[in-house]
Amino acid sequence: MICPLHGPILKENLEHYINKYDIWSSYKAEDDGVFIAFSSIHGNTADAARELAKMLEEKGAKKVVVTDLARCDMAEAIEDAFRYDKIILASSSYNFEVFPPMDQFLRHLKGKNYQNRKVGIVENGTWSPTAAKCIREILDGMKDITVVQPIVTIRSKLNEDSRKDLAELADAILKN
Ligand SMILES: Cc1cc2nc3c(=O)[nH]c(=O)nc-3n(C[C@H](O)[C@H](O)[C@H](O)COP(=O)(O)O)c2cc1C
Repeated sequence: MICPLHGPILKENLEHYINKYDIWSSYKAEDDGVFIAFSSIHGNTADAARELAKMLEEKGAKKVVVTDLARCDMAEAIEDAFRYDKIILASSSYNFEVFPPMDQFLRHLKGKNYQNRKVGIVENGTWSPTAAKCIREILDGMKDITVVQPIVTIRSKLNEDSRKDLAELADAILKN
């Protein structure tokens, strides 16, 4: 039966739905995994995000999901942010701010009271990287967000040093 105001009326398997309600209403994660959400102007941050995903898998992450915020369905990205217990935000710097698809994504999460997650940050910038600072400013307005160190800065494209930092971030975010 469908209630016109609230949707389907559930009569069976209620334990399953009540369990889901409990998870969603208390902002707990549904699954153990890492969601990497990236926004990239020219593609170098995208490459770094994919390389980081490989590192995480090699280091034993149960599940890694990578999403391009400029091209994905935003509703799916928001769903994945809530589904997994760990998230990595990777973005290019843009006009002394963060590339708009990342800004938009974070504002959606803030509007939905996103909280209680472990977060890694990767920024990319050529002359004055500003993405991490902007991401942190938005995260600061959320509850129970643990930003994992190191915050990784890439200068245009990955090099030996930033690769090492990425590996460090992968270790840190997988640590309990
Ligand atoms: C329109 C535009 C604005 C940019 N603004 C900045 C900036 O404010 N600071 C900076 O360090 N780099 C800036 N950049 C350079 C990019 O951040 C850099 O090329 C990018 O991080 C490389 O990663 P990507 O290939 O993933 O885009 C800008 C690039 C463009 C095209």
